[in-house]
This record gives sequence, C-alpha cells and structure tokens, in this order.
Amino acid sequence: MKTLETSSIGKAIDRIDGRLKVTGMAKYASEFPVENVVYAQGVTSTIAKGKITSIDVTEAEKQKGVIKVITYKNAEKLKESDEKRPAFTLTSVAPVLQSPEIHYYGQYVACVVAETFEQAQYACRLVKVTYEEDKPDIDLDKNRSKAFKPDDQADYSRGDVDAGMQSSDVTLEATYTTPIEHQHPMELHAAIVSWENGKVKTYASQQILNDAKTAIADTFMISEDNVQIIAAYLGGGFGSKLNVHKHLIMATMASKMIGRPVQITVTRQQMFTNTGMRQFDEQKMRLGANKKGELQALAHHTTSHCATDQMYYEACGNVSKMLYKTPNNAVTHRLIPLNLQVPNSMRAPGEATGSFALESAMDEMAWKLKMDPVEFRIKNDTQRDLGADKPFSSRLLVECLRIGADKFGWSERKMQPRANQNGNWLVGYGVSAASRRAPYRKTSARVIADMRNGEVYATIQMDGTDIGTGSYTIVAQTAAEYLGIPVKNINVELGDSDFPVTPGSGGSWGAASYANGVRVACKNLFSKLKQNAGVAEEDEVALEDLMKSSKVTSYKVVGTAEPSEEYENHSVFSFGANFAEVWVDKDTGMYRIKRMVNVGSAGKILNPKTAYSQIIGGLTMGAGMVIAEQTQVEPHHGNFITRSLADYHVPVNLDLANIDVVFLPEEDKIANEIGVKGIGELGITSVAASIANAIFNATGKRMRDLPITPEKLIEASLEAGV
Ligand code: MOS
Repeated sequence: MKTLETSSIGKAIDRIDGRLKVTGMAKYASEFPVENVVYAQGVTSTIAKGKITSIDVTEAEKQKGVIKVITYKNAEKLKESDEKRPAFTLTSVAPVLQSPEIHYYGQYVACVVAETFEQAQYACRLVKVTYEEDKPDIDLDKNRSKAFKPDDQADYSRGDVDAGMQSSDVTLEATYTTPIEHQHPMELHAAIVSWENGKVKTYASQQILNDAKTAIADTFMISEDNVQIIAAYLGGGFGSKLNVHKHLIMATMASKMIGRPVQITVTRQQMFTNTGMRQFDEQKMRLGANKKGELQALAHHTTSHCATDQMYYEACGNVSKMLYKTPNNAVTHRLIPLNLQVPNSMRAPGEATGSFALESAMDEMAWKLKMDPVEFRIKNDTQRDLGADKPFSSRLLVECLRIGADKFGWSERKMQPRANQNGNWLVGYGVSAASRRAPYRKTSARVIADMRNGEVYATIQMDGTDIGTGSYTIVAQTAAEYLGIPVKNINVELGDSDFPVTPGSGGSWGAASYANGVRVACKNLFSKLKQNAGVAEEDEVALEDLMKSSKVTSYKVVGTAEPSEEYENHSVFSFGANFAEVWVDKDTGMYRIKRMVNVGSAGKILNPKTAYSQIIGGLTMGAGMVIAEQTQVEPHHGNFITRSLADYHVPVNLDLANIDVVFLPEEDKIANEIGVKGIGELGITSVAASIANAIFNATGKRMRDLPITPEKLIEASLEAGV
C-alpha cells in the first residue's frame, strides 16, 4: 500500500510557473493569439473640467487602417449609475464615452480602432476635440467646504476622546500627509475582447474575475453567463487591476460595434489617469497617555479627495481602531470632490498610509514620554479588538516586536537623537508595528484526478489569479498535501472565469482562500472515491490505491470552502514589526536605509520562498513611500506632472538595504482550517513609519509629510527636547 506523501505545504519550493515566465511562455492578456484582431487606443481629454463642444474625427478616419472612431456621439448606450457620485467598487459599472462632460484630465473622449496598433496610435493624434473649459477644482484647501462623509463606516467612536485627552498627562496633536501615488505594475493594463453572438470573451489583466464578470455584464446590460474572462498571468496589480476600468469597456464596445476582436493597451502615461491611484491623505492624529505610558485617547481624522463623479476612499483610520488598547477612540474620514480621477485601492489601502500616521504618532508619544518606543507599544498591546469588540483569532504583535528588537540589535539604540554619529552620518534606529486584516472568503475549486501509467496526476481549476504572488505554486503545494501526491504531479489552471469561483487576488485574501478551497475539493475527492470503493471515511487510503480499487481512471469533483462561525466571531489579522536603520548625511540631507528587519506573524506560511518575496516587495514599496514616490498635480489644469517612470520615482536596488525577514511559526486555526493568513499587504504596512522614525532618531527632525526628500529634511527644524 502506498504511503501518503505529506508536508508539501510549508516547503520553500521554486515557483512552478517560474520556467514559463523566464522563457516568455507564460501568456499575459495581450499576448494571446486571436485571429482577425484589431487595435484600439483611447484618446484622452486635455482639460480637467468642462464639456466637449465638438469632435472632428474626419482626418483620423481617413487614415490607412483606421476602422472606426468612437465618441460619445456614436457610442453604444451603457448602464450608468443613478447616483451622482457612486462608490467605486469591485463590481461597479464602468460607463465610458457616454456624454460630453469632462470630470478630470485624461478622461477618455474617443477610441480609435485600426488594423494595427501603430495606426490606431497615430490616428488618435488626429482626433480634434474642442472644449468649453471650466476652472477645475484641484486644490484641497480651496474646496474644504465641500467635504462630505462618504458612508456609514467612515466614522467610528468609543468612549470620549476629549475627556481622555483632558485626563492625559502627555498629549500629542499632529497632522501627517501622504501624497497621491500610482501602482504601476510592470505589465500595462491590457485586454483582447471578442464580442460574438452576444457573448463576450476577454483576455484581460484583472485580479478578480468573478467581480469583473459582473461589472462587464452590468455595464452592457447582458447576463453574466455571456461573459468569460481569462487572466492566466498578470504582471502585477497592486490593486490597480481589482476593478474594471474603462479601457476594458471601450474595447468590448468596439468589438461589439465592429464585429471583430479588439485589443487595447493602456499606455504607461495613460495609466496615470485611467487605471487608479492612491489618494492624497491628510491625517490628523490626537493621542493622550498617562505618565505610565498607557494610552487614554486616540483619534484619527482623515481628509482626502475623490472624483466629482465617483467616490472611493482608503480607510486610513481602521488601524487606529484596533491596534492599541485605548478606552477612548475616534475615527473620521471626509472626502472632498476634486477634478481628478477616482482613486482606488493601492496595496494595503488604508493601512499603508494609516499606519504611517499612527506609528509616527506613537513614536512621537514615546519620545514625549521618554519611553522606549518598543516598550510603549507593548505596554498598549491588547488581545481584544476593541474596535470590533471581538477577540483576535491570534495576535503575536508583542512577540514580533521582541524578536525583531533582538534580531535588530535594538538595545544599541540611543534614545537621544543625533547621539549616534559616524563621520558625517547621523545614524538612527526606528520601529513600527504593523497589522493587516487577514480575510478569507468563500472559495471553490475543481480537482480532476487522472491515473496515468499507474500514477495519479491531478489538475486543479479555479478562477483565482496569480498576480505575481505565487498562487500557482501554493495551490499546487496545497493540492499535493491533501491528495498525498508529489507537487510535480499537480497541474494548476487558474485565471479562467469559467472555472469554479474564488474571491480572486486582492485584499490579502488570495492565499488563505485558494488554499482552503483546494483543501475542501481534495477532501471531497477522497470522500467520493471512498464511497464508491466502499471504504470507510476515516480509513487512510492513498489516492492511487483508492482509484485502483474502484477501477476509476479519471474523477472530477468541486469543493467549496467557507469561513466558519468561529472566524466570524473573531477579528482575524496578521501582525508584524518593522525595524529600520537609516544614515542621514548631516549637510546634504541625503540618507540611506542601511538595514531593515521585518518580523511577521501571518499564520501558516504556505511557501517561505514566495512569502519572502511578498514581504521584500512590500518593504520596497514601503521604502518607496518615504524616499521617492509621489504624483505631482499641476494646480491650475489638473494634469499630472509626473507622467512616466522617469519622473515618478520608485526605489531601485541601490536604494535598498540589507533586509532580514522573519516569519513566526504560527497556525491560526480560527482563521481557517489550514491556518493561513495573508501577507501580501502586511509587508508594506508601517514600513514608512519605521523609516521616518529612524530619521527622527538620527536627526531630531520629525518628518510628517511623505515623501521625505533631502531638501525637506534640511529645511525642517529640530523637535522640542532635542
Ligand atoms: Mo490589493 S490593493 O487589494 O490588490
């Protein structure tokens, strides 16, 4: 009898799709060979507010190869929201080219379809649009009177913050800002769409296929059954590919109108205005503590912006509701409609920015209290989520902080800024705590077991996606584990909306959801085969023997995993701690991040290798928030000044530090049966604060506005007490 092969889960194996990727065999949305395909390109507005008064397409349409120019005048009628400023959600309709109104710079005003990509691009330049231009609302300050509360979840309170502040011995009020940022995955947003006999088939770079299916179907007012989306591989998403954006709808419309498959690619420049961004956030923090360092009050008030015609906000204050034990807590969020495109989720929406404010403020409080910032956080630890009024399923934040401090050599830190100097360098150490919700959602998977040459092979099918995170690999590992066969015998097929439904890749729920869906499908396979073979459910029999004894050569089942009641009754979060060492040049303000230590507690790590690269990526993006990333808006016309990767700066290898990543061994069985929690967003969370706090420790200058550029650093004055 064959023994069960176990423990595929948890091994640091190479990506099973690695070879396909490095040899160029992995197919991304725009790479599928589709016969008879034509090319679409969007033309974008050159004003931020106003109305199109005329569009002249004659010259464009005369060009060789040009098939059609679509504008609001001849476009298909699409579903539009009845609301004035609907929320931008994962399933939102994405009407485009429906009216002459312009809400932001870069809005699509026309779509050119031609035989070749180059012909389409050239003809785009010949579309003549004239506008009646209004003065756009771009400046947050000038539009504060328009601030509104976006929804019922925006505000929260417990206790009485004012009373808590009054009874505190030490208080802090400080405002932090984070700029507009862009996700910019390496793979441009792209799609190939065929509309044939009322059915839509699209290869599209989307993170969540089932939601995208809904969005496309709703926009065209057709049944979801008539939509198929294929996203076999994605070259990154970072949230920008969560939603259906208008280019996908334009290509679908074009295909419907001309009766041929249409490929569309959003250019890198267009990705600044048409595929999402992180909004600017202004976060006002109020903290109060007694002499012992116990928080008495914590308030987190955020003001940011949305579009004039659509609403989205990243909930910066969420982290302040649950991270520390404070009896009095308040969170608010206000939005100001501006003539900029609607922002959307960018990696750890809310936490990445919210934790910068909270964890900077915690550092400021520790300094005021003359307490060690690690000890100050530990003192205010809570094992209950006071915001949700639920226990945490598990919370090893204190362990993350202690182990990280030890590994980093935190005891060498000087409390007094500017006390650690090395030649012209001011050396600083910084710490921050991280928490990110670790959701798990209903997930289905299909497993097909096949006997070939006396060996069992299995294929797993799910509509989940691999956005570069390693989904293929962890799905294979999980299937191998639960089927008791080697990983090399597992074939994983992801990214087809006709496969069983998953929540897709987003919000750090991918790994936990996919793994549990696969687990249930594999369990179901065993149950069914045992029933067929007359074997008792509890008997351990190898899959190969089961198939042999029941004379089955191929068997297919679907399984669905769902969160348990226990899960619902708990707050399920991943936790972490970041430590950074930064060297700042005394004279120039130039600085280098020398070392980073990240300790994470994220449940069972399915594959330490892919998990490690998730954290490295997160740390790099977190460092990017501090050293470089910002999208600059031209204040009069509302266009972005940073319009390419030459002027939108991201960290490069030379900017990065020595990085140590530690995962604490943990299995959170309340989170889900395998005990997996997400890490995709944990890695970026609070990184910025650890670096800013290190800069304070080095220089005595508190930098509350990201990014922290050398010139800002030179101009800043020393904080009180330094
Ligand atoms: Mo993430 S911002 O949910 O892809």
